Amino acid sequence: MKQFFIKSYGCQMNSYDSLRIADALQEAGHKSASSMNDANILVFNTCSIREKADEKLFSDLGRARLKKLQAQVTGDDFIIVVTGCVAQSKSEDIAKRAPYVDIIVGPQEIHKIAEDIKNFEKKNKIIRTESNAQNKFLHLTHQFFNREVSEFLTIQEGCDNFCTYCVVPYTRGREFSRDASDIIAEAKKMLSMNVKEIILLGQNVNSYRGIGPDGETWNLSRLIFALADLDGLKRIRYTTSNPKDVDESIALAHREVAILMPFVHLPVQSGSNAVLQRMNRKYSAEEYLKCIDLLRDSRSDMAFSSDFIVGFPGETDDDFQKTLDLVEKIKFAQAYSFKYSPRPGTAAEKMPNQVPEERKSERLQILQKILNDQQSSFNEGYVGGHLNVLVTKGGRHKNQQVGRSEYSQSVAICDSYLEIGDVARVKITESMSHSLVGVVV
Ligand code: SAH
Ligand code: SF4
Ligand code: F3S
Repeated sequence: MKQFFIKSYGCQMNSYDSLRIADALQEAGHKSASSMNDANILVFNTCSIREKADEKLFSDLGRARLKKLQAQVTGDDFIIVVTGCVAQSKSEDIAKRAPYVDIIVGPQEIHKIAEDIKNFEKKNKIIRTESNAQNKFLHLTHQFFNREVSEFLTIQEGCDNFCTYCVVPYTRGREFSRDASDIIAEAKKMLSMNVKEIILLGQNVNSYRGIGPDGETWNLSRLIFALADLDGLKRIRYTTSNPKDVDESIALAHREVAILMPFVHLPVQSGSNAVLQRMNRKYSAEEYLKCIDLLRDSRSDMAFSSDFIVGFPGETDDDFQKTLDLVEKIKFAQAYSFKYSPRPGTAAEKMPNQVPEERKSERLQILQKILNDQQSSFNEGYVGGHLNVLVTKGGRHKNQQVGRSEYSQSVAICDSYLEIGDVARVKITESMSHSLVGVVV
């Protein structure tokens, strides 16, 4: 028996994968360690979306190497595994720069990690980067160990969109949708472990096209309607949607499924049509605004979050201003914004007119200030009002609990005797920079 520690970088899909790796390792009899220091199996589940994410891996590997050297002195086993998107795109580089890494497997090969570790004693370095998401989902363990109140459930993986800045189509491969019956079975298992909120995950959840139990092809909306019937499920969310795939069917789900949260992450990236076109996003700023209207029409309490990239090749001051104009029109509840980071092998890397780093930083600062202000006004708008909060954990103070609102805001509830997993109507009394405070009504 060994003790393992998994470090996850990057997106929610990696968090989901890490949990499934943890399930498989526990099933194989290994124990979860509370820190890297107590572990003799280290798993790095990596992300390659921006350059910084890559570099983080190599600095962590340096530390892991020292731990492995110490273990060698005492004659103990020590295994280092690298998986995720960097393992897929840079396996040879990792093997060369960090020859002490034992197992390098891409994100579609995580179901074999427990077996790789078992066989490792006898074998040399293992490198595998096949890309078959169907196989992965077929062979993931059916054993579940710890689950929280709110959990991710991957329904779709991979991407066929080839936005010109993005590595995901190269690291996660082609789009693959899981069968609806597998997803429903997994949701039921989660519910039996007291999960109350399920967040459906995919690089493009809105292009989900899975085989339903009736043999028909189901879209995301149909899947949501089916999940909403499951006993004990209190909340459904989905992420990430590409605006080009948002249609009437998902608006209908928002209109009719009360437990589908009125909060949608809809990455726009830019407000300039010229930039959107060079990004290969396949929608215009006007079409994006129409998506927002469609969803707002389905529920009046709908709110949005988004992703932005500033400094995409050729982005002029005027293009950037169009992004600011769009932000001003929509008023986001929350948002993530990034400086464009050229990624090896993508089309944008070779585009002319790369924007200087200082200009990217300036634009990012301006955009983030506006987005932060919008988030603060959104939050402050609830002071004196009410939100429904799903209690996820105990708070720092006596009789205090912490949970999430329908808009994923963190809310501390004072003087309450709620249980974890309860949903309560909370009167908001205070708005802090990144959280709210309230009392049960
Ligand atoms: N599939 C989702 C996003 C996945 S990546 C979608 O299409 O919206 C998450 C976010 O990372 C993207 O929305 C984008 O804003 C950002 N991103 C992706 N590649 C990037 C790059 N090369 N440089 C900077 N940001 C990037
Ligand atoms: Fe990347 Fe575009 Fe696919 Fe999103 S839709 S994962 S940004 S290629
Ligand atoms: Fe990163 Fe791969 Fe997710 S590149 S954002 S871990 S799909």
